Amino acid sequence: MNAILVTGAVGQIGTELVQALRKKYGKDCVIAAGHRTKPTKEFIDSGPFQFVNVLDRDQFEKMIVNNDIDTIYHMASILSAVGEMNPQLCYEVNMSGLFNVLEVARIHKLERLITASSIAVFGSGVPRDNTPNDTILLPTTMYGITKVAGELLGTYYFRKFGVDYRSVRLPGIISSETMPAGGTTDYSVEMYCAAVEGRRYTCFVREDTVLPMMYMPDAIKSLMDLAEAAGSQLKHRIFNVHSMSFSAGELADSIREIIPTFVCDYKPDYRQAIADSWPRSLDDSAAREEWNWEPTFDLTRMTEDTIEKLRRKLVK
Ligand SMILES: NC(=O)c1ccc[n+]([C@@H]2O[C@H](COP(=O)([O-])OP(=O)(O)OC[C@H]3O[C@@H](n4cnc5c(N)ncnc54)[C@H](O)[C@@H]3O)[C@@H](O)[C@H]2O)c1
Repeated sequence: MNAILVTGAVGQIGTELVQALRKKYGKDCVIAAGHRTKPTKEFIDSGPFQFVNVLDRDQFEKMIVNNDIDTIYHMASILSAVGEMNPQLCYEVNMSGLFNVLEVARIHKLERLITASSIAVFGSGVPRDNTPNDTILLPTTMYGITKVAGELLGTYYFRKFGVDYRSVRLPGIISSETMPAGGTTDYSVEMYCAAVEGRRYTCFVREDTVLPMMYMPDAIKSLMDLAEAAGSQLKHRIFNVHSMSFSAGELADSIREIIPTFVCDYKPDYRQAIADSWPRSLDDSAAREEWNWEPTFDLTRMTEDTIEKLRRKLVK
């Protein structure tokens, strides 16, 4: 087997995706590509690591050729909240970066390209409950706009050049391993951390804000299951994946089942408008039918698992 490359490997999803891929395929055939953030020693020791800027096409292309890469999990991106602070950078990384990756995949006839799209593609005017896989896409953020354009570009490369581009529209991802940075659903992980450390938490969205969320092991599972699905079974290239939906208040309640003293108040900031433009739940029947998508965690199990892991990590 040739090698797998993960871009954005030091990010929230990349960090755990690299470990899951190494566990499955062996550590030497998974190359982790970081950007500026210095990884931990433990991460560097876990297998091959290199720095790459996806905006530097030559550097990226050399990395693909020199390492005999045939599959890319492209996780390098600028997320929603940072994207609204710096829309130009968001456009550059999410569009020009993806274009470089698609071009390299086309020229070198790579086997597969997996990307993570987002619920940010939908935007206002789209049904917010059980949002269909195939619907009108009207995002209002630069992040959402780049994700829609990225989906269209990837699908174009599939149809025109046969690049095997596949993507999942991930909801908010919750993880106890790597802290999120710059997303609109970051409050969920921040809330768990504050509760475990015995701190009060001020949530930046309203208590009744409901968003679809997913525990990291299921997010990794969705990316790897889609990558392995038989191409002949796929009618879509892009898939909604749903796991659970809850309000910020319900998350605080589930934490209080284990940490009854936890106090949370709510002070919405500019991220409330982003959250209000996103779906509350997703129709993921296409993913379930075409590649047997099925999540494994619900809110109670996720809260138990997250608090147990964070206690080991944060409380010395
Ligand atoms: N985390 C979530 O809740 C969530 C939800 C939906 C979709 N997604 C998608 O999943 C993917 C991974 O997200 P994440 O949460 O790990 O994001 P992250 O911000 O934690 O990681 C992204 C990584 O991309 C890297 N990067 C930025 N510019 C780069 C460049 N020019 N060249 C190379 N690398 C660069 C950053 O250094 C960072 O480590 C993204 O496509 C994101 O849109 C994430």
